[in-house]
Amino acid sequence: MMYSKIIGTGGYLPEKILTNHDLENMVDTSDSWIRSRTGIEQRHIAADNELASDLALKASHEAMKAADVSTDEINLIIVATTTPDMIFPSTACILQNKLGIKNCPAFDVQAVCSGFIYALATADMFIRAGRCRTALVVGTEIYSRILDWDDRGTCVLFGDGAGAVLITQSNQPGIISSHLHSDGSHANTLALSGNICNGKIQGNPYITMEGNTVFKFAVKVMEEIVHEAVAENNLQISDISWLIPHQANIRIIQSTAKKLGIPMEKVVTTINKHGNTSAASIPLALDIASRDGRIKSGQYVLLEGVGSGFTWGAVLIRW
Ligand code: UT7
Repeated sequence: MMYSKIIGTGGYLPEKILTNHDLENMVDTSDSWIRSRTGIEQRHIAADNELASDLALKASHEAMKAADVSTDEINLIIVATTTPDMIFPSTACILQNKLGIKNCPAFDVQAVCSGFIYALATADMFIRAGRCRTALVVGTEIYSRILDWDDRGTCVLFGDGAGAVLITQSNQPGIISSHLHSDGSHANTLALSGNICNGKIQGNPYITMEGNTVFKFAVKVMEEIVHEAVAENNLQISDISWLIPHQANIRIIQSTAKKLGIPMEKVVTTINKHGNTSAASIPLALDIASRDGRIKSGQYVLLEGVGSGFTWGAVLIRW
């Protein structure tokens, strides 16, 4: 039986930090409201000349260094992003060129905040099918460019960043299982409806969101998907050493952990420093927890995400 295994992680956060206090000077909000309702203290904002592929490139170099893998060993690139450099070509193709790699398949996955889970599950399937040996999987986002900075209901929530992993063939897991779901009937609940048509932007070019609806849905499916992953593998929830959830709101994370009976000490959180970085949030959190030595060899790690669509999913890993 062939599996895939994570052999290196990397992350990149743009230099500029925007604090809640900075936001107090931009919209009618307060540090205490943002902290108490979301757990966010600050977020990183990309420089004007940085693109999603630039953030991805820096995170990829970190992952390659950690894995001791060179560009000629990478034979699949998947990028999860909602904020691509261009409508086309894909950010994965642009990243491939910036890395100096030729010929391997490179494509983007669009599942918004669940994008990294979808991308990692897809790369795992390429490897299990014997179609690829080593894959680079990246989540990269520049949400600061799709936020209405006059809308306090959304602009305080998001940040920019990128996270990357390298996975390679292994005869032992590695990635044990992946679980993906979507329900397109909620398409307008959290969306950026704007599009280019006949040379003009049609629809709204900024994120719109029914916050409460997203919150309730997220808490529901973030619990369900953990039960699904654990049950399918005949494990107990207590077997999970580390839960690495999408970082949207600390209250969503805490409610999920409480319902599952998982103590917060076993949950990796970065929301306070990063805000919601959409497809980048899970690989960024994974990178931090693997680099600081929290995650030990042999432990079960469960990644889980939920996002616009709705989309949701989990990847169970034996580290
Ligand atoms: O990756 C997935 C993406 N999105 C999410 O996961 C978001 C999920 N939803 C949430 O995290 C929460 O619903 C929010 C953080 C967006 C909002 O928190 P809430 O506790 O659901 O607040 P609310 O929307 O019910 O608003 C409560 C009050 C309202 O005022 P009134 O009507 O009670 O007078 C809002 O106008 O808070 C007000 N409010 C704010 N006040 C200060 C909304 N945004 C702000 C703000 N600063 N930034």
